[in-house]
Amino acid sequence: MIDENPFNDKGMYQRFAMFEKNLLAGKCGIVTGGSSGIGFAITKYLLSLGAQVSITGRDEQKLQEAAKDLGPAAFPIVGDVRDADTVQAGMDAHLEKFGKVDFLINNAAGNFLCPVEKMSENAFRAVNDIVMMGTFNWCQAARKPMMEAGYGRIINIGTTYAPHHGAFVGHSGAAKAAVLNFSKTIAVEWGPRGILTNVIAPGPVENTEGVKRLVASKEMEGLMMRNLTVKRMAKGEEIGQAAAFLIASAYINGITLPVDGGLSLNSPGLIPAAISVDEMLGALSHA
Ligand code: COA
Repeated sequence: MIDENPFNDKGMYQRFAMFEKNLLAGKCGIVTGGSSGIGFAITKYLLSLGAQVSITGRDEQKLQEAAKDLGPAAFPIVGDVRDADTVQAGMDAHLEKFGKVDFLINNAAGNFLCPVEKMSENAFRAVNDIVMMGTFNWCQAARKPMMEAGYGRIINIGTTYAPHHGAFVGHSGAAKAAVLNFSKTIAVEWGPRGILTNVIAPGPVENTEGVKRLVASKEMEGLMMRNLTVKRMAKGEEIGQAAAFLIASAYINGITLPVDGGLSLNSPGLIPAAISVDEMLGALSHA
């Protein structure tokens, strides 16, 4: 049942059922960076629809705690997405536990606000290694079992600024643009083998590390709110809904689905145009 009005009489957002309760029963997959933020919220939502999910992360303790919170259908796999051998070992562990991989969600990311003039080679590389190489590594690891099964759904978490620009996130913008291009490439190459690849481009999602790191000042938050056509940040589960939809879909391949409350209609970059470079540098120096 779809509730036409997702707000209760106090103006608060309320949960409503978008899909059948067991939509993903029997499906299993992997969410990288699943121990917190958007990855945790996506995982929680997919579990609520009956899926089983391996979550990956670098911090073992954080991962174990997240898996405990998520319940027995969540399986923690420790590892860094940047290292191809570790990723392969993670895929082996997932297959040993569940026997197949129906979906892969490349969510692990690294980001921080930094003007290019202050960005070291290592900073640019670190973010590109996590976002671009991490996505590549996990796609390659999932390819073989998905091709053998003739079935797979890959969802890469992008960003609204990837096709445009992203002042102060030059590392992440470059990496996410690469992910966008790579996603369409494998959509073309692997689609005929049953593996469909799409991108979800979230805007700001409340209570996440991303918002903590990227919304640098009250002024920036205010301008962002003004540019959001839906006058609030996303709930994590709303990114989960988009993921569930793409996992369940059988005829969508190579698209980018923005889940950004219409933010990119008004503000293609991350930093609203009304904030000048000097103002941002000032905000960062006080951060
Ligand atoms: N401003 C400028 N440079 C920064 C920075 C900042 N806020 N944070 C990190 N860096 C630089 C470091 O100084 C280092 O460069 P250097 O060796 O030239 O000094 C480089 O980035 C790598 O940092 P390091 O901490 O060694 O890398 P790491 O691999 O341990 O961590 C990051 C990777 C930097 C992306 C870290 O922020 C991270 O782990 N993020 C994961 C969570 C996340 O970002 N979530 C947000 C999702 S939207």
